[in-house]
Amino acid sequence: MLKVGVFGVGHLGKFHLNNWKEIKSAELVGFYDPNDDIAREVAEKYQLPRFLDAERLMEACDLVDIIAPTPFHFSLCEKAIRKGRHVFVEKPLANTMEEARELVQLVKESNVKLQVGHVERFNPAYLALQSMQLSPMFIEVHRLAQFNPRGTEVSVILDLMIHDIDIILSLVRSEVKNISASGVAVMTETPDIASVRIEFNNGCVANLTSSRISMKKMRKMRLFQKDAYIGIDFLNKKTEIIKLKTPQDVDVFSFDIETPGGGKKTIALSNPPVPEVNAIRMELEKFCEAILQNTPTRVSEVDGFRAMDIAHQILRKIKHNTINT
Ligand SMILES: NC(=O)c1ccc[n+]([C@@H]2O[C@H](COP(=O)([O-])OP(=O)(O)OC[C@H]3O[C@@H](n4cnc5c(N)ncnc54)[C@H](O)[C@@H]3O)[C@@H](O)[C@H]2O)c1
Repeated sequence: MLKVGVFGVGHLGKFHLNNWKEIKSAELVGFYDPNDDIAREVAEKYQLPRFLDAERLMEACDLVDIIAPTPFHFSLCEKAIRKGRHVFVEKPLANTMEEARELVQLVKESNVKLQVGHVERFNPAYLALQSMQLSPMFIEVHRLAQFNPRGTEVSVILDLMIHDIDIILSLVRSEVKNISASGVAVMTETPDIASVRIEFNNGCVANLTSSRISMKKMRKMRLFQKDAYIGIDFLNKKTEIIKLKTPQDVDVFSFDIETPGGGKKTIALSNPPVPEVNAIRMELEKFCEAILQNTPTRVSEVDGFRAMDIAHQILRKIKHNTINT
């Protein structure tokens, strides 16, 4: 049984609390949050002790769960790692690249495990593709949200686009060759909307659009590869595959298309079964499993660092373009 302390019980922190209560391998020992109103409400609703000293809570638990605003991730992670505690930290891993680099080093030198909250890796629509060979050559992504002051302490790149950057880096096993980016700050001091193109050494190209000032919500990723088109709807948890039919594709809707030269190809359309999974519960459960079985975490500190690295390169491009226009 792992003793868990929760640091930050705002909007997302409460989802974590609800899920920890359902995880058999974990036992909540308390929470830390400097906001008295939020803390009072949580202590009462969850009947959970509030710690007024973050370090004392760290000492009382095996696993530190950090859902505080991003500028506090580093100091909380650093303290926890130095005390030998396992750390789950929300995305983005840290506020600056220096902080992220230091955390990677600290984990390397310690005996602890760290997982970053890139929760889309556990989205059922994405899990539906687990048995499929994914090797996209062209990726199109739209992640749009209505404006909400929560999360605006960082740019839309670190707030929303980083989810897609992480997924893309886990799919495309090649180095990034070039990044083009343009973004505009409308409601905050940092970009609220951005369009980005990432080119990889293997020829894959990813076009990403993120906005936190949209009228409607959308979280869609489209993958194009030699034999298939794959549509992933992260918001509505639906997945669609359109591909050249193979003998293994039985009981799928299909139709023929004539090809130049008089031949024909058969196209198959399918919706792979989407598992009924609570993504937050699963990411926390998998982290506990990694600790208890001493296996690698599903989204490591290095994954968190790589996603941040690309996000910061994008931000530098946007800044450069803004200064030069
Ligand atoms: N994975 C995702 O999809 C996702 C979604 C939303 C937010 N997040 C991340 O979760 C984090 C929190 O986001 P939120 O929307 O819950 O924000 P929030 O503002 O609703 O909650 C943050 C809470 O942390 C508390 N806090 C402030 N300083 C603290 C400190 N030093 N130690 C502990 N607690 C502290 C605040 O009082 C507040 O209660 C952010 O890093 C954000 O990027 C991730």
